[in-house]
Amino acid sequence: MCGITGYIGCRDATPILIEGLLKLEYRGYDSAGLALLDNGTLDVKKKKGRVSVLAEEVDKHPFRATMGISHTRWATHGGVTDANAHPHVSSDGNFAIVHNGIIENYENIKKFLLDKGYSFSSQTDTETLVNLIAYHYEHRTPPDSENRFLEAVRKTLRHIEGTYGFAVISKLCPDEMIAARKGSPLIIGVGKNEYLVSSDILGFAGRASNVIYLEDGQIASITRDNCDIVTVSNAPVDVRVNEIDWELENAELGGFDTYMEKEIFEQPKALENAIRGRISDDMSTAKLSGLNITPNELRQFDRILFCACGTAWHACLAAEYLIEKYARIPVDVEYASEFRYRNAPLDKNTLVFVISQSGETIDTLEALRESKRKGFRTLAITNSVGSTISRESDGGLYQYAGKEIGVASTKAFTSQIAICLLVALYIGRMRDLSFAAGREIVSAINSLPRAVESVLAKASGIEKIAQKYTSYEDFLFLGRLAEFPIALEGALKLKEISYIHAEGYPAAEMKHGPIALVCPECPSVILANSDDISLKIVSNAQEIKARKGPIIAVTDRPELFDGIADDVIAMPRVHESIRGIVATVPLQLLAYYIARSRGCDVDKPRNLAKAVTVE
Ligand code: AGP
Ligand code: GLU
Repeated sequence: MCGITGYIGCRDATPILIEGLLKLEYRGYDSAGLALLDNGTLDVKKKKGRVSVLAEEVDKHPFRATMGISHTRWATHGGVTDANAHPHVSSDGNFAIVHNGIIENYENIKKFLLDKGYSFSSQTDTETLVNLIAYHYEHRTPPDSENRFLEAVRKTLRHIEGTYGFAVISKLCPDEMIAARKGSPLIIGVGKNEYLVSSDILGFAGRASNVIYLEDGQIASITRDNCDIVTVSNAPVDVRVNEIDWELENAELGGFDTYMEKEIFEQPKALENAIRGRISDDMSTAKLSGLNITPNELRQFDRILFCACGTAWHACLAAEYLIEKYARIPVDVEYASEFRYRNAPLDKNTLVFVISQSGETIDTLEALRESKRKGFRTLAITNSVGSTISRESDGGLYQYAGKEIGVASTKAFTSQIAICLLVALYIGRMRDLSFAAGREIVSAINSLPRAVESVLAKASGIEKIAQKYTSYEDFLFLGRLAEFPIALEGALKLKEISYIHAEGYPAAEMKHGPIALVCPECPSVILANSDDISLKIVSNAQEIKARKGPIIAVTDRPELFDGIADDVIAMPRVHESIRGIVATVPLQLLAYYIARSRGCDVDKPRNLAKAVTVE
């Protein structure tokens, strides 16, 4: 995915666009560019590299304009080069576009346009979009059309397959910006005699508190004092303005070195926010009004399906253990990208949950849509208020974890599991979970922030351990039952920010193949916080020790690993229902400190982006 900003108003557009891009850089950072329009001149600057490289270029060659668009890229089609950076300009020089998404039929469109005499200077799919708009403006839209620019874009989109969120400007229409979306997010900020466009509200950098969420299939015609929206089929759309809660959305470093560090240490607060107002102490259950589903309706379901991607998928696996253990209802977990195409046979009384921090991940969004197409009730757990997934689901629960900027998800993950535990408690107490058992879980949930605080207090000790492991290139992460998803998450954290190869496995499964990897050059991180199988995990550790594999044990029973583990991270003894959340924190810190020691950019790891809004 990428970050897009646009501005049309009376102020100097450049600093507004650049500041917006800096706020969106976590969404993609291969290259950056902007196009400014003033007095019939389209000034385009674009450079491979970070937004700071573009800003230097802009400072060297300033161009004043009160209208412009900008982009920070995460490449899908065409390498990371200056030429492939956005904005892309039509070969007639009249139109400039910034685009998030994939034009799936771009090759056919390109052939058509080449036959019509259009030329291309990049390898991107996006360039076909801007040339097709130019073609429709020139050849398929009467000059006396009421709004020729909008009409040209609308007609173009009838030929586009794939996903887009884009903003386009034209020398021929110097007082209008067109924005459209299908599958990739785009939001319009409403100012005083000015409008902004952004991929997400952070890109407004506080300049707009009222926003219009563009929906799929909608096109906006934006001037300095008006915003009209129509559908691709030319139906008018009622423009609804929403207010942003900036308190929740603000994201500054606040004295930390990186957003990832800040967000790891924000977890106690994020967990408090996830829990707040959602516990019924007197009934020993949860209060989940946002689900938009009555207890009686909820009782009708006899299966639950969870869909997500990446870290959120690990949260789904954690939810499976919690819901099956406490609510005794079968849970299936699917990769969203697989589910949307595999046509899984589902029991008709299946309740579908999707989990997504950004609320914009296209694979998860399409899994949600596929479930709805098949008539299933869909609920979403997301950290992004007003996101596409939150708007398209039948109900759900916001995480209120605060903006997560670090590409590697941390506080959002533990917050998701906490919310899934609330769901397990809620459904469980409608079924066979006793008042006493519910009370234990309520007490555990209420203790979560403090338990995580106690682990964060060990950060310097964990950093010391991490320093010993920065030169390894392979790791195994092992856990059993509810700690298996946590092992997977620990492996993902390490690999995505330090570029070290790491794999997570059920601890006992390690014997069936992965043990071949065990050697002095391949450390194993072993999670052992489960009462009933700790001794089994100790045996797994012995098997590793016997093959000279270094061991880091993360355990609430350090004594079991005396003489076995090379390093031990002692964990607090907590209720079984929250052990997975608490055990996640040392793995986040281990990955963080190893990556930092290796000089990696933990907030913007190579090749990654925060929300993947392309397929
Ligand atoms: C997490 O560290 C990764 N950055 C990635 O796996 C992420 O969890 C995944 O892309 C899903 O994102 P979402 O929660 O916003 O849908
Ligand atoms: N497909 C376009 C490109 O590769 C846009 C990618 C994106 O969404 O960042 O440039």
